Amino acid sequence: MDIKTQLHNKAVQALAHAHSPYSKKQVGAAILMDDGKMYSGCNIENASYGGTVCAERVAIWKAISESKSRHIVEVVVVTDAIDPWPPCGMCLQVIAEFADPEQTLVHTANPNLIKKTFRFKDLLPEAFNSKFLKP
Ligand code: THU
Repeated sequence: MDIKTQLHNKAVQALAHAHSPYSKKQVGAAILMDDGKMYSGCNIENASYGGTVCAERVAIWKAISESKSRHIVEVVVVTDAIDPWPPCGMCLQVIAEFADPEQTLVHTANPNLIKKTFRFKDLLPEAFNSKFLKP
């Protein structure tokens, strides 16, 4: 099974764990790091609403806290919406921290298949990142 399909499967499995009693939307994400390891996450909502975390960021928190790698190669986001969802702006900003704008791929999918694939830089072309903080 190819990596993209493995990531999609992991994202679909994660989606089933969504804690989304408020929006009732289920989202799953899976990421591939450049050490070959995969991490997944689901959206986790909170009664305060503002405490909600998207599936993509849950997957990234897991990867960064459990892996030495700091480079995301591929991302798959799965929802059961007819038009699959791209990552929200805040997730794009977090992905930017660990992405190669030219190389990192973002796939949007429904539970059955991947519908669209973007290069990261096409989703967030002028990303604010660490290079702006260099002295
Ligand atoms: N959500 C994600 O998990 N990822 C996104 O990129 C967009 C939004 C979640 C957050 C919330 O639980 C629900 O979808 C509705 O916004």
